[in-house]
Amino acid sequence: MPVTNAHEDFDTVLVVDFGAQYAQVIARRVRECHVYSEIVSCDTPLEELLARRPVGIILSGGPKSVYADYAPRVDSRVFTAGVPLLGICYGQQLMAQELGGEVGRTGAAEFGKTTFTGAVDSVLLSGQPESQTVWMSHNDAVVRAPEGFRVIGSTESTPVAAFEDPQRGLFGVQYHPEVTHTPRGMEVIKAFLAATGARPTWTSHSVIEASVEAIRAQVGDAKVLCGLSGGVDSAVAAALVHEAIGEQLTCVFVDHGLLRAGEAEQVEETFGAHSKAKLVTVKAADRFLEKLAGVTDPEAKRKAIGNEFIRTFEDAAREHAGDAKFLVQGTLYPDVIESGHGTAATIKSHHNVGGLPEDMEFELVEPLRWLFKDEVRRVGEELGLPEDIVHRQPFPGPGLAVRIIGEVTRERLDLLRAADTIVLDELRRAGLEREIWQSFAVLPAIRSVGVQGDERTYGHPIVVRAVTSEDAMTADFARIPYDVLERIAVRVINEVPGINRVAYDVTSKPPGTIEWE
Ligand code: XMP
Repeated sequence: MPVTNAHEDFDTVLVVDFGAQYAQVIARRVRECHVYSEIVSCDTPLEELLARRPVGIILSGGPKSVYADYAPRVDSRVFTAGVPLLGICYGQQLMAQELGGEVGRTGAAEFGKTTFTGAVDSVLLSGQPESQTVWMSHNDAVVRAPEGFRVIGSTESTPVAAFEDPQRGLFGVQYHPEVTHTPRGMEVIKAFLAATGARPTWTSHSVIEASVEAIRAQVGDAKVLCGLSGGVDSAVAAALVHEAIGEQLTCVFVDHGLLRAGEAEQVEETFGAHSKAKLVTVKAADRFLEKLAGVTDPEAKRKAIGNEFIRTFEDAAREHAGDAKFLVQGTLYPDVIESGHGTAATIKSHHNVGGLPEDMEFELVEPLRWLFKDEVRRVGEELGLPEDIVHRQPFPGPGLAVRIIGEVTRERLDLLRAADTIVLDELRRAGLEREIWQSFAVLPAIRSVGVQGDERTYGHPIVVRAVTSEDAMTADFARIPYDVLERIAVRVINEVPGINRVAYDVTSKPPGTIEWE
């Protein structure tokens, strides 16, 4: 599938993923240092790794022991390929083992905050204090560094908690420099990046420049259609593409009937006020609801919606956009990772990645495919988009359909929409909107008994979901004050006939996901 490869203009540090949730955090930290970073699966052969011309490679932590059956490994030629390497936790142990050192059970596993003593005259730890707090999470540890390495740090129970061979560009730490619980961890990442010679050019400004060029090169003088969802991603994608090709772009807003209250009007209004691009609104609730009738399986719903979006766009392209050949999608890097790249498991087919029909007539333009959400927001700001678009809570393409468990009907949509409006309203009033990543109501397919005005009720519950997050890859349930939750519960039950119970979802991600389907 052709994509907008703007990232190829930047020096790249690859993060080899050994199955830890830390790989994404490492990539984000590298990008915070203005160096482009990408996650690759550990079974990628050396030739493929080198084809991406990395200036450095970071080996992430992982949940397994290097001695475990089926312990994940990386192509062992990577250790002698001449590309600077930083091994973190499992990555350090693997480096030690592959280069002739020794990994053993030290007998004292370390989890959590640990005091670390480091060599201040080393390359990796230069400028840091001799003693500092670091975050550990391991059972095994390196007990003997490979030949040529200098041991540059230890803890009470880990004699080789950091080592380096700067001549060969090889570095390793047992602790996790990428997590905020290691206060000076960013300095380790910066020291490694300095050793790789990576140019710190990954900034919003240069991302925009490179994307604009890549979009122009991809689409030439063809017509392009951009689906707007009302969320920040498609707004930023549209703004980038408009910057690149101006009038060749037509934006389409599909009102699929799965939107929140007042959303369609709001999108038209804000877009009209802030963009010069042409906007067409298509009223498509009937055709979407028809396709969703009787569908209860979450993946089937997502596929049906993804499919119908494309059919609607194809019609719109013919009618309003001079037979557009290209379709812009606001796909983000986390969507790409979560929709299953290489060996990673498919958790959900995000409709803008995995749920597209095979016989689609469009070629895709995905200018945000390499960006994390906070990077998208910064690009949006740099492009001059207003604050209320750039800092809007994300809203999924399949809309309220993934918040209704079981069949999506007009009645159930109305019920959910009314409750959802109250949830958002009360959180806004409490001043919590900005610190919450996403907040909404979910309608499960159950009923429960209640009592209202001395009468028995047998109604529907709604579940309030509110999470904090940095990039939607992981999330924590928001610690909303009880009195705010109470106001939500009282108002929802009083104002939405048919709902007689309100629950609060206290699941983080993982193990939950943000949406319920
Ligand atoms: P989950 O539920 O997977 O969601 O934790 C992560 C983030 O992605 C949003 N989301 C989607 N966005 N199309 C989108 O454009 C989709 O199909 C889709 N599914 C989930 C979700 O709202 C959250 O921000």
